Amino acid sequence: MEKHAASAMNGSSLQDFSSGDIHVLDDGRSINDFIDDQIKMLQSEDSEEQFLVADLQSVIDHHQQWLTLLPRVKPFYAVKCNNTPAVLRVLRVLSTGFDCASKAEIQMVLNLGVSPDDIIFAHTTKPMSHIRFAAAHRVQTMTFDSEEELRKISLCHPKARLVLRIAVDDSDSLRRLSSKFGAGLGLVEKLLGLAVDRDLTVIGVSFHVGSSCTASQTFHRAIADARQVFDIASVLGVQMSLLDIGGGFSGRDKCQVKFEEFSDVINAALDKFFPPDCGVQIIAEPGRFYVESAFTLAVNVIAKKNCEESGPGGQMVYYINDGLHGSLRCIVNDPAQPPRPAASSQGERPHRHDH
Ligand SMILES: Cc1ncc(COP(=O)(O)O)c(C=O)c1O
Repeated sequence: MEKHAASAMNGSSLQDFSSGDIHVLDDGRSINDFIDDQIKMLQSEDSEEQFLVADLQSVIDHHQQWLTLLPRVKPFYAVKCNNTPAVLRVLRVLSTGFDCASKAEIQMVLNLGVSPDDIIFAHTTKPMSHIRFAAAHRVQTMTFDSEEELRKISLCHPKARLVLRIAVDDSDSLRRLSSKFGAGLGLVEKLLGLAVDRDLTVIGVSFHVGSSCTASQTFHRAIADARQVFDIASVLGVQMSLLDIGGGFSGRDKCQVKFEEFSDVINAALDKFFPPDCGVQIIAEPGRFYVESAFTLAVNVIAKKNCEESGPGGQMVYYINDGLHGSLRCIVNDPAQPPRPAASSQGERPHRHDH
């Protein structure tokens, strides 16, 4: 019998995902059964609170898939994607590393007992107080992409192990990042020279192809770009030992490009540009891949308006007790799966839904 573990969070903690009981479903119940039971329980208390349920087995399954298909690449889970404590605890047990983007995220991960060596501070524009915090807590590895960031790091954390983030082609991704983050290849020599002048240690290169990438070949080009940076560094006397291939993978079963296709392209590019005996450690910063299909938000339809007779295109409008300023705040970038009516609400006449 398949066993699932679900973490449920009630409405009051939706914003920070800060609490959540873990239930092991070893009685044959599915996640959907669990959600329906929760709804019934809330109804019996006359509560219409919305709540989130995480299927922790889905997180574990994605990790297994990662290990099988990308055996050379150690994942550093991108905490910003979803910092639910149960998810972070599961990932710690699975021995992933963690990509943190702020002091608060570093603190959260350190509180779980994660070693500072398993954290990359992967934000290229950090407040100086956050850099000092990282230094005080022995988090050494951090990214940069500008002269200004090098200046701040040399003042606050001169012993840091730096990773130069480069801008790569992200034109086939739903959420593009390279216009804001990453140095162009033309800037690499200057930045590495400045790091050497300031006695800073640059250990590697990172990139992010953009979230929800839809073209696997993008990774081939980005890894080839990273190889160029390693070669430029070598000419300057900087021997790099880390390649960070970022995130960008969807975690949905029905995504446009399957993870298998991405991993085939990545493995081939790594073997070509960074063969196994080259002494370079390969890491990544997947976020959505781990959690995108794990979470279900249960909401109540609290009102409906029949606009079907108001002319062509008219439809039934449903109002739910959560929205763009709450749990659905990421929906602009990542459209949600179509809603599923709960078992307990069967009997309503179904209408077409848009969102
Ligand atoms: C620096 C960095 N790493 C990793 C991620 C996670 O990306 P994804 O969810 O596409 O895997 C992001 C997302 O914004 C990011 O900015």
